[in-house]
Amino acid sequence: MKYNFLGNTGVVASEICFGTMTFGGKGYWEAIGKVQQKEVNDLMKTVVESGINFIDTANVYSYGESEKMLGQSIIDLGLNRSELVIATKVRGRMSESKNYVGLSRYHIFQSVDESLQRLQMDHIDILYVHGVDPKTPIEETMRALNDIVLTGKVRYIAVCNWPAWMVMKGLGIAEKHGWNKFVGMQYFYSLAGRDIEREILPLAADQNLAMMPWSPLAGGFLGGKYSRNAAKAEGSRRDTFDFPPINKEKAYDIIDVITEVGKQHNITVAEVALAWVRLQKGITSTIIGAKTIEQLHANIKSTEVQLTEEDLKKIDEVSALPREYPGWMVERQSADRQL
Ligand SMILES: NC(=O)c1ccc[n+]([C@@H]2O[C@H](COP(=O)([O-])OP(=O)(O)OC[C@H]3O[C@@H](n4cnc5c(N)ncnc54)[C@H](OP(=O)(O)O)[C@@H]3O)[C@@H](O)[C@H]2O)c1
Repeated sequence: MKYNFLGNTGVVASEICFGTMTFGGKGYWEAIGKVQQKEVNDLMKTVVESGINFIDTANVYSYGESEKMLGQSIIDLGLNRSELVIATKVRGRMSESKNYVGLSRYHIFQSVDESLQRLQMDHIDILYVHGVDPKTPIEETMRALNDIVLTGKVRYIAVCNWPAWMVMKGLGIAEKHGWNKFVGMQYFYSLAGRDIEREILPLAADQNLAMMPWSPLAGGFLGGKYSRNAAKAEGSRRDTFDFPPINKEKAYDIIDVITEVGKQHNITVAEVALAWVRLQKGITSTIIGAKTIEQLHANIKSTEVQLTEEDLKKIDEVSALPREYPGWMVERQSADRQL
């Protein structure tokens, strides 16, 4: 396992982060995964034995069950909490009660306390805001995030799924007041969804933020079960939970190409898709999702995959984003500033 510094911090994180969205399976989350405590412990044992030290959960995953099972597995396996980098999130609705949602100071403080209870821990290493809250002023959120770090309950703050302008506004507000800033970002990034290349990856590079891609297999669509001739795969999450949204026709073309590349290297479609994400510039740690030990082993093995220049070129050609304004104008005007 290789490790990277987490953005501009001194924290070292494995290049694979283990996502725990498959734990539990309550209600809405049932279609994603129903992994129960015994299997959670087996997965976590493999995770730490492989050298992965970075684990991702969220308050909302299975309405708290994922955090509970993760915390319990660390106790059951006798793992050293201090050797792990534990990330969780705040934003999603946790109950019908009016204030159990969003990025208000009220809910951030409430949510962190409840996450810590479920995790059976005294601190969270990285607290992500899980998405936008269109009603809470960004200033209120950034101040609350700074203050929660000062309590010692959270070590670092990070952001998921905000548009680039909003992240930059949050960083600017924090800078102005001398508050703690986001140290990393978590966004959907996969061969079937390269949107963050337009604004988010350049922002991460400019601000020296860590980048943790989620759904690197596009929720399993690039897992090897789907193709133009197999639009359904029984028992697979995409059949009942079709997320994240992708252009399926384009994804089938991508699957054709990565299947060929995989055959040449004697590796699976999933391994090619995961290796591609890992090999992109600016990626700190790819967040993998696994329902079984077999999937987990395969995903860990993908860290050994090297793709040739020729492979990368073919894959890029079939998966590249269409050109978009102002990107094409930026490209054009940058050309006459080359020496
Ligand atoms: N911040 C956010 O908004 C956000 C959003 C989503 C996810 N996340 C994080 O990112 C993590 C990963 O997301 P994800 O689960 O969507 O990742 P993903 O890699 O795109 O999809 C994982 C799914 O693909 C299938 N799969 C996994 N490994 C495979 C393999 N080797 N071969 C074939 N199929 C395989 C499994 O489903 P099937 O077997 O059913 O096909 C698995 O549940 C989550 O656990 C969570 O921590 C964050």
